Amino acid sequence: MAKINWKPGNMIYPLPAVMVSCGTEPKNYNIITIAWTGTICTNPPMTYISIRPNRHSYDIIKETGEFVINLTTESLVKATDYCGVKSGRDIDKFKVMHLTPSQGVEVKAPLIEESPVNIECKVKEIITLGSHDMFMAEVVAVNVDDDYLDEHGKFHLDQTSPICYSHGSYFGLGNKLGTFGYSVAKKKTKKRKKKVAPFFSILFFALLMDITITSTKHMIIMELKLISKMRYRSCPFPSILE
Ligand SMILES: Cc1cc2nc3c(=O)[nH]c(=O)nc-3n(C[C@H](O)[C@H](O)[C@H](O)COP(=O)(O)O)c2cc1C
Repeated sequence: MAKINWKPGNMIYPLPAVMVSCGTEPKNYNIITIAWTGTICTNPPMTYISIRPNRHSYDIIKETGEFVINLTTESLVKATDYCGVKSGRDIDKFKVMHLTPSQGVEVKAPLIEESPVNIECKVKEIITLGSHDMFMAEVVAVNVDDDYLDEHGKFHLDQTSPICYSHGSYFGLGNKLGTFGYSVAKKKTKKRKKKVAPFFSILFFALLMDITITSTKHMIIMELKLISKMRYRSCPFPSILE
């Protein structure tokens, strides 16, 4: 095996391909597909999107200072691609792709109702880099589809069938391979837990059975004693039973 050395370029894949919605009123609502995005800070929650200045959305986001990141799914893959090849200068992407704009909580930019996660953002800083300008933004609200909440209130993002973008193609999520920290999780604790639980269950069941048998036995003896007292002066079998 040999490594081929390429000239510098972007090869960090896979990435999310998100639909970013912007605009403050229906007549200037727009959607742009963005792959240059990610998390840059946990607290305060901060994100970025990098946009070429010639995009129609660039001016809208620069002027309004807000946008919404809408996560994409397998059922939204066609719309994701379409919003990344057509400009809002020429068409209404919400209309053509049959997407529904809905009201956000903290921003005027519309949420895409069909997306399971809508992240409302306010621009903090615009950094000029070269081909793209980076819009650093604070996350001001997150909206999730309650269809993916379980009975404990846990949100199952994997069940939304998310998609990613890798070197020119869209892919589904694939199989789950592990959970956070699984590589250092203690296996012994898990095993002991599994073994201990049935042991105590059996012990409890046996005790319960013993109590039931003993009390039934005593009841039968009492009954027999009573019968024999009534019929005979002495009973032949109580000692055997006891
Ligand atoms: C998968 C994918 C990812 C894209 N990522 C970006 C991006 O990160 N930044 C950008 O400026 N354009 C990106 N584009 C291109 C824009 O989405 C595209 O030029 C779009 O038509 C611009 O729409 P607008 O003119 O309505 O703003 C991407 C396109 C696709 C298909």
